Amino acid sequence: MNVLQEIKNRFAQPLEEWSQQPDGLLAMIRPAQDKRFGDYQANCAMPLSKQLGKPPQEVAAELIGRVQLDDFCQSVEVAGPGFINLTLDDQWLAGQLTQSMADERLGVDRATQTKTFVIDFSSPNVAKPMHVGHIRSTVIGDSLARILRFLGHRVITDNHLGDWGTQFGMIIYGYKHFLNEAAYTEDPVTELGRLYRVVRQIMDYQQAVVDLPKTEQLLANQQTQLAELESTPPSAEKAAAKRRKKDIKNLTGKIRDTREKIEQLQSTLQSVNADPSLQQLADQHADIGDAVLQETAKLHEGDETNVQLWQEFLPHCREDIQRVYQRLDVEFDHQLGESFYQDQLADVVSDLQSSRLARESEGAICVFLDEHDAPMIIRKSDGAFLYATTDLATIKYRMEHWQPDCILYVVDFRQHEHFSKLFEVGRRWKYPNVDYRHISFGTVMGDDGKPFRTRAGDTVGLEPLLDESERRALQVVSQVDDEKPDGPEFSDEQRREIARVVGMGALKYADLSQNRSSDYTFSYDKMLELKGNTATYLQYGYARVNGIFRRGNIDPETLRANPVPMQFEHDVERELAVQLLRLEEVLAEVIVDFRPNLLASYLFELTQTFFVFFDKCPVLKAKDDLKSSRLQFCDLTARTIRLGLQLLGIQVIPKM
Ligand code: ARG
Repeated sequence: MNVLQEIKNRFAQPLEEWSQQPDGLLAMIRPAQDKRFGDYQANCAMPLSKQLGKPPQEVAAELIGRVQLDDFCQSVEVAGPGFINLTLDDQWLAGQLTQSMADERLGVDRATQTKTFVIDFSSPNVAKPMHVGHIRSTVIGDSLARILRFLGHRVITDNHLGDWGTQFGMIIYGYKHFLNEAAYTEDPVTELGRLYRVVRQIMDYQQAVVDLPKTEQLLANQQTQLAELESTPPSAEKAAAKRRKKDIKNLTGKIRDTREKIEQLQSTLQSVNADPSLQQLADQHADIGDAVLQETAKLHEGDETNVQLWQEFLPHCREDIQRVYQRLDVEFDHQLGESFYQDQLADVVSDLQSSRLARESEGAICVFLDEHDAPMIIRKSDGAFLYATTDLATIKYRMEHWQPDCILYVVDFRQHEHFSKLFEVGRRWKYPNVDYRHISFGTVMGDDGKPFRTRAGDTVGLEPLLDESERRALQVVSQVDDEKPDGPEFSDEQRREIARVVGMGALKYADLSQNRSSDYTFSYDKMLELKGNTATYLQYGYARVNGIFRRGNIDPETLRANPVPMQFEHDVERELAVQLLRLEEVLAEVIVDFRPNLLASYLFELTQTFFVFFDKCPVLKAKDDLKSSRLQFCDLTARTIRLGLQLLGIQVIPKM
């Protein structure tokens, strides 16, 4: 049951009568911040008092006189300047939890109004190795799919693979010029990966050759500018002096960035200079950038050889990313890549033209939008279609085949502009009633405060990241095992299996527990902390509960089949009870703005409370019904952690 929603429902009627904006007032009903004053609080009397011109205490008193709550609250009180504090009835609370004991869903109801969601997530550009940036979309999207499904919604997941872009021009070029045939026959995926990297490196090298002198010139200009600024004495006028200081600071920042850019370019050049065979290739393929574009264009125009090569490569590329999904325990209902829509693009463009949404401008076909300065280009003057055109065709396909109420695009915040245009065009084209959402997220940062990179400055590949998480998890798991009072209990193989679950969990949770809108700082040490807001801590909590059942030789199934009324001997038991009952409320909160971190915070707090309970309330030493009640607390906590983690895509292990 969603207690918060129930309280809101009860308040809704008087608030609707008294105010034009009841939603804002209803949003002021929340779980209590300070548990000493109750379980929930309603702070809506204060703003309402202004509207009604009465003292807030009076408004609060009148409000609770009109709201019926006594069937599940034991006290409803006005406090301080007009807060309303609600305390749930102990017996009612105990009864709810006893019911949850027998319920696989732990008392969480399915949504009454179910919707159809399409979730577009992960969506990497294949043929290049997946990197750290892909982890966010993959784990956030997967978790949202799990949560929405659990709540009873119809969910269709679709991995919108980038399988038609320039990266294919790159491997086609690589294949035609740099192929090691034996290696390709032996292990195509690895050889294609190598080809991609060689071509990438040479392209970056050529670009750096052009960019370095320009950037050095830029640095010189910036330095001159700075010197000029610094040599003019500060004006006596305050505002001007302040401006001068600010300009100097800005410019100094820019100079730092330019220096960094130069260092990067130099290291790109050096990595090729240091490898004579690569240097030779770079010299021989001076026009590689254009050549790659031509290979891509030929593929798109249907050139027989290139299409054949693409068809040959694609299954290998898919196999390559599938391995990552398998390790991450992520599945999709569909993986319709960009290529799937290619024969529909011409129709999309002519349809938009005939409905007068799109028109020609400087040879290109564009949709002009009031809210944006630049139009959305859907066909370039050379006839080529764009990312946006494919996305429009994708909307059409999804609408025709799945009729979603809502489409979630779990994509990096940098594509904000693209999606804002896309949604606008989608609405004006044919599909005005879909709830389009860009579920955007920030960048993964290293502990140096810059986007997470390897020491050599490359983006971090996803597979090495998974390997390293597991390796570090193995250290943690081994240490915990070695330090057990009765000596270690796991074999090497068991340790590795536990480390796999702990490592993957840590990695996913580190991401999911962050507010997705912000950048987050990646740290192996932090994400595997045994005592912190980590999956490891939650998994450890789960394993500890299991330990109680093992030591007491108690079968949870028997316990569940014969529940006793829950007892609140100690304050922390009541606190735990209130928290256990909040699961449905938290899940509802998660899907308001699609933020799995709210679920993570909830699980973390629940586990913390559990450990206090564990410390203060002997379980196996308690007698009779008190013992059963405490065992029920243990069982409900473990099941809530397991279910919650499962909804985040994270597994648990019985022993750690
Ligand atoms: N492949 C794109 C990229 O890596 C992301 C695609 C997101 N989904 C979409 N429908 N545009 O940037």
